Amino acid sequence: MTGLSAALAMANDATPDVGDDHAQILEGLGARQKWISPKYFYDERGSELFDAICRLPEYYPTRVELALMNRHIGEIAHLVGPRASVIEFGAGSNLKVRKLLDGLDQPAAYVPVEISADYLVKQADELARDYPHVHVQPVFADFTRPFDLPAHPVTPERNLIFFPGSTIGNFARPQAADLLEVMKLEACASGALLIGVDLRKNPAILHAAYNDSQGVTAAFNLNVLRRLNRELGANFALEQFRHEAIYDENEGRIEMRLVSTLAQTVAIAGERIVFGEGEHIITEYSHKYSVEEFIVLAEGAGFTTEKTWVDENALFSIHFLAVA
Ligand code: TRP
Repeated sequence: MTGLSAALAMANDATPDVGDDHAQILEGLGARQKWISPKYFYDERGSELFDAICRLPEYYPTRVELALMNRHIGEIAHLVGPRASVIEFGAGSNLKVRKLLDGLDQPAAYVPVEISADYLVKQADELARDYPHVHVQPVFADFTRPFDLPAHPVTPERNLIFFPGSTIGNFARPQAADLLEVMKLEACASGALLIGVDLRKNPAILHAAYNDSQGVTAAFNLNVLRRLNRELGANFALEQFRHEAIYDENEGRIEMRLVSTLAQTVAIAGERIVFGEGEHIITEYSHKYSVEEFIVLAEGAGFTTEKTWVDENALFSIHFLAVA
């Protein structure tokens, strides 16, 4: 760990802690349609399970996006131009940003923006070590709201916002539009955005991607309840809930659910939560777009589309957009 990132981690350790947010959890579990925020997925075990999801044969997004980046990195680098500052919204697996930094012409800076101090420090340290010529400057912030960008020793030619993984799909469409506006603001006048967007497709392919045969996705989803047990002293019996992911074709979204297999009452933080048999908690949405639909959304937020890449099976898209 570098001194800088160590100091940053100590000053700002705000990794979502279920204990701190228990009012929000109780609000969600007390609602008519029960819900738990997806931010609780990624504790240590959850992160490991998510990495395992990304390696599943059925979970195509990670693989297809990386293949698209590999295939088109020359063209991406040409469109971005030299000496860009890469501002990544979120920091997780760093394979994709490495591909980008390797391909770009003399990237000036790398700025991961992340609310989880653990991820941020890990990402920044590894990249700083491996890219000594890139000025790595982590920003500890919630990227859904405007934040201040750091200054760099050498002024970059332009800002490139990088948002891979179709994380945009985890926001409802109006919030996705708001987030694109924050990106436009952070990109500044001459900036650009490189974003991965999962596509609408045959529901059977989506169903398989979110209901894998080995049960890794189920373990990942159920892990949220384990975390509530550990951090809030809840008493969810994990074997009395099952994972379910359904695709709503009209809404163009996968709905991740935890279904109570029987009528039961769960105790959590001094409250009792009553479940009917078959009643479900929503844990996450994953919205899917058509290419045209996404372009309309991005252009509404003030971008112009310069290039869209789609794989031969039309599973996933990467868009390069410039600030209009
Ligand atoms: N962001 C991922 C996605 O939307 C998260 C994810 C994959 C997920 N599989 C899941 C979330 C299963 C909950 C349950 O694709």
